Amino acid sequence: MNKLVFATNNRYKIAEIQHIIGNQLQLLSLKDIQFEGDIPETSPTLEGNAIQKANFIHDRYLLDCFADDTGLEVEALNGAPGVYSARYAGENATYADNVNKLLREMHGLKNRRACFKTVIALFWEGQLYRFEGKICGNITTESSGESGFGYDPIFLPDGYQQTFAEMDASVKNKISHRAIATQKLISFIRSVSD
Ligand code: IMP
Repeated sequence: MNKLVFATNNRYKIAEIQHIIGNQLQLLSLKDIQFEGDIPETSPTLEGNAIQKANFIHDRYLLDCFADDTGLEVEALNGAPGVYSARYAGENATYADNVNKLLREMHGLKNRRACFKTVIALFWEGQLYRFEGKICGNITTESSGESGFGYDPIFLPDGYQQTFAEMDASVKNKISHRAIATQKLISFIRSVSD
């Protein structure tokens, strides 16, 4: 069976994508290829980081490989936290720290528009491909809901009355930025591996 490395150790992400791809292709995690340590993520853009991570593994192992990077872009904050979403409130910030910082920064702001964006970079037979997923909505004024992670309790996607953290995971996983980018990746892989 053909193999494809996903430059992550997040087993939930691997399982989710492996499930959708089926048995045409076997996904390998960083652990599966015995990579230990951190892949540098030093780009000022989501796309740059996704490419940097995929390239790092592709260069060393000469294997087909993809990587993803996600951020929340708030219009009134000129796109912040964006590429710094994971460490918005500091290097070891928890999800709650980041949510509280964003609510503070947006206190009193009328424009609450924001979009989640995921970029996937894929090296396939030596060529680089990019896939993007985006979902827009509004940042609420307080946290609501227990499921999901990150900024889910304060993100109200357009067309829905519930935050990402209030809705069923199966609904979020159909409409999310990550789901959209992943579907594009999977369609591509299906089209070239038939
Ligand atoms: P990553 O690139 O997937 O690790 O995402 C970077 C950061 O963006 C995470 O640490 C979260 O704070 C935030 N984030 C990514 N995806 C989501 C999501 O689906 N919901 C809420 N926050 C997210």
